[in-house]
Amino acid sequence: MEVRPVRWDGDALVLIDQTQLPHRYVEVRYTSWQEVAEAIRQMVVRGAPAIGAAAACGLALAALQVRDESMRSFRAEWASAAEALARTRPTAVNLFWAIDRMKRVLETCRTPDEARRRLRAESEAILEEDVQANRAIGRHGQMLIPDGARILTHCNAGALATAGYGTALGVIRAAVEAGKRVRVYADETRPRLQGMQLTAWELVQEGIPVTVITDNMAGMLMCRGEIDAVVVGADRIAANGDVANKVGTYSVAVLARYHAIPFYVAAPISTIDLSVADGSGIPIEERAPEEVTHVGGARIAPEGVQVINPAFDVTPAELVSAIITEVGNALPPYTASLAELVAKRLGEDSGDGGTAG
Ligand code: MRU
Repeated sequence: MEVRPVRWDGDALVLIDQTQLPHRYVEVRYTSWQEVAEAIRQMVVRGAPAIGAAAACGLALAALQVRDESMRSFRAEWASAAEALARTRPTAVNLFWAIDRMKRVLETCRTPDEARRRLRAESEAILEEDVQANRAIGRHGQMLIPDGARILTHCNAGALATAGYGTALGVIRAAVEAGKRVRVYADETRPRLQGMQLTAWELVQEGIPVTVITDNMAGMLMCRGEIDAVVVGADRIAANGDVANKVGTYSVAVLARYHAIPFYVAAPISTIDLSVADGSGIPIEERAPEEVTHVGGARIAPEGVQVINPAFDVTPAELVSAIITEVGNALPPYTASLAELVAKRLGEDSGDGGTAG
């Protein structure tokens, strides 16, 4: 079964409700941008590229919802939907990338009808391009994975976190498709357990061997020589190669460096934010304390305890062995290599084949 967490069905946007996996596979239909914004906030849909794609589709729905036939009021009402969607989650830059892309389409539309048609087409293009980008990430990344590799991953950077195929899990899928034998170790990823509930679910569906570990077991496995590579996704990559990803990624990267294990980040170019010089400029989402104090709806912490819940952390570029993108693998120093890959992607989009590499 091909996992498509964000897809169109007629005029409805269909999302896999990721809050219910692995117990129940439920698809929910959405016909308003307000519902889509809430789905992003509640993490029905999550993962940087999937959030961006869902927001783009939400904006296509917004265009259907705006009844006004004057272009001026259409733009104003649509813009308030775009602003609200941009406030849902702050860290994954793909959200803002997708909204900007939709805004650029609207700028060149002359009538609401044209806008409705072209915004829907743009959202479909974003979905399709993301799957293609992930397959290309897989092709580039799998070359770094040796046969027999035991690979640690954190959180879920799989099909569920994208429009399909996945970034970090895309690399693993591509290695398997290339005939390599792999075993995946999935960090459970507290507090929301995306590793245990989503990564493990995806890999089990596909028959890729997966072992779930609690987050505090990674060091012990590395020390015993049982991990050959780490592959993770990213929510935002700064111009210098600092990587924001699910909280706990930094600890894994430090452990990997100590044990001389390669630490790879797989992400599409849309996750690279050259406007942010380094990781200190990346906003880190703080989520509700209940995600930490409760598991499965039951309180596990004493009343009265202080809690922090940063959803992401920043891994410094110096701990990253390579950044795998759809246009190739960036190596240190990242300031130069990322700028080159971004220019190459822009060149491909504008049809001149790129300015680099
Ligand atoms: O809070 P989440 O579940 O949206 O966080 C997801 C991650 O941190 C992923 O690793 C990242 O978005 C990359 S997804 C290809």
